Amino acid sequence: MEKTVQLYEGKAKKVFATPDETKVIVSYKDDATAFDGTKRGTIVGKGVVNNKMSNYLMQILEKEGVPTHYVEELNDRETVVKKVEIVPLEVIIRNISAGSFAKRFGVEEGIVFKTPTIEFSYKNDELHDPLMNEYHALALELATKEEIETIKAMAFKVNEVLKAYFLKLGVKLVDFKLEFGRLPDGAIVLADEISPDTCRFWDAETNEKLDKDRFRRDLGNVEDAYKEMMRRVFGD
Ligand code: TMP
Ligand code: ASP
Repeated sequence: MEKTVQLYEGKAKKVFATPDETKVIVSYKDDATAFDGTKRGTIVGKGVVNNKMSNYLMQILEKEGVPTHYVEELNDRETVVKKVEIVPLEVIIRNISAGSFAKRFGVEEGIVFKTPTIEFSYKNDELHDPLMNEYHALALELATKEEIETIKAMAFKVNEVLKAYFLKLGVKLVDFKLEFGRLPDGAIVLADEISPDTCRFWDAETNEKLDKDRFRRDLGNVEDAYKEMMRRVFGD
């Protein structure tokens, strides 16, 4: 399948139309942004890591009964996915305190929760992706009650599958962000990406950060962290 016109350019990906109107091609860039795009940079090789890792994880999830947008990897940076209407919610699951959770509630990073948490943000950079609860999402008609229930169940299932998967690779899945989309028949599928851009990964032994926090917080060795996660997933 080949790209026709560019439909959209986001911060980390471009999306192209294809001759099949039910499919699009996503192309992963090395561009990195943080803090609503105010911090910008390049992480060499990131697009390849995120494309390959996201596709691999989505295939694992499909086997475990989580429907996703994934269709076919075309090359290192490009993948065919089902065309969806994105539900404008960022769905965040947390297993361990970090990032905005630690800041908002005034606690240290690294508290292991007995039960994972879920939260939603309204996907809107101008408003800085404000935190929202499900009643807010319903009031703004971003999703129906049934869709929100489906999204929550799928997000917790993704967490159970991926937490166990990464632990076997010596990685703690601290937290992550998911996005969901609607197919033309209304079915909800997991969309966007699952990668070191959208997850916090800590080495299980040392708690070394192996994700985009190295870029967000200027910790150095950013490319090495992406490469290391690639190595854990795919081997040498
Ligand atoms: P947070 O602690 O900053 O709220 O981030 C929670 C998780 O969501 C973390 O794994 C990083 C991911 N994330 C995104 O994928 N996109 C974003 O824009 C932000 C702020 C976080
Ligand atoms: N990519 C997001 C942005 O630029 C933020 C992040 O991942 O921290 O807003």
